[in-house]
Amino acid sequence: MAAKPRPPELARKVAEAYAELKSAHAVAVKLGISPSTVYRCLDDVNIKRDWHPPSSLREAIASIPEPEPQPSPYTIERVPQQPAFAGGPVFELLSRPDNTFLFGAAGDLHAASKYTRWDVREELYRYFIEEDAQCNFDTGNWIDGFFRYNTFDVEAHGLDEQCSILARRHPRGLKTFAVWGDDHEGWMAQREGINVGKYCQDVMQAAGHEWHDLGYMEAHVLLRNANSGKTATLAVVHPGGGSAYAISYSIQKIIESLEGGEKPHVALYGHYHKLWSGLIRNVWCLQTGCQQDQTPFMRKKRLEAHVGGALVRLRQDPKTGSILSMTPELIRFFNRDFYAGTGRWSRHGPVTMLNRHVHTIR
Ligand SMILES: [Fe+2]
Repeated sequence: MAAKPRPPELARKVAEAYAELKSAHAVAVKLGISPSTVYRCLDDVNIKRDWHPPSSLREAIASIPEPEPQPSPYTIERVPQQPAFAGGPVFELLSRPDNTFLFGAAGDLHAASKYTRWDVREELYRYFIEEDAQCNFDTGNWIDGFFRYNTFDVEAHGLDEQCSILARRHPRGLKTFAVWGDDHEGWMAQREGINVGKYCQDVMQAAGHEWHDLGYMEAHVLLRNANSGKTATLAVVHPGGGSAYAISYSIQKIIESLEGGEKPHVALYGHYHKLWSGLIRNVWCLQTGCQQDQTPFMRKKRLEAHVGGALVRLRQDPKTGSILSMTPELIRFFNRDFYAGTGRWSRHGPVTMLNRHVHTIR
């Protein structure tokens, strides 16, 4: 059987060293490889082991193919990006022995925004952990990203800097499964073609967080019954578009747009910064609020911010896998006093944060 050719980059190194040193043994010593590897590399590029005129050596070196550039681990696989669910369910959550699931549903943190409510994030996670939740499903916008809309509303620019702020301040002790939207963190994916979900996952895991990327825009999670193995589908979604005149309307239209057979059993929605739950076309649905105060942009657009999150309990039929009931505990962090006064917004420095109740959710 013919020997496998060496990588072209090694053959190039050997040929260049040989052109300089004129001795296979000297090349082997210089590159720290065996003389037989040197000979095989020279054979690969048709350089004889005796004397060569310098021009033929140069020709031989020039004929070695350039190494193929390797794709970055953060390359987006398809353009335009496809929602995560298109590739099938990305994760399974096993029920508890009593056929129930219990998890947090909280997103739209917008880390690196001057209006991010870290106190709310911490309190929600503290509560989820205390209640023995299995994980939190983050419905996206975990960082604020940067674009002309928010240039003066962020404390840091750049994907790495914003993910580092998230890694520094995100609470520990609970697994997080996060989708990413095509706005905010998604602006960077659109502009730079970076898989921001994987990038953030790597930054978070390097900092010791149990943070898992669910993918772009809409991910499906299998809810598997621990007693029977039957499953239901949970959709974790960061949709798009503006808020509607009624809180329920956008979600209603999204679910109405789904074809029969593709509806999930349960769906969690971020993006609109609203807290709400309902049952539409037999889909248990929930909007997950936000952990960011109303921004100047939202004020301009007359958008209310429901600062808070939810703790969700599901009861599953072990015979069929279907979800018999959903008990959403919507947790709202109300204003303690009116948020008037100076310093509320600033385009050049820190902002005055509203004093919210963060210890009254029990
Ligand atoms: Fe958001």
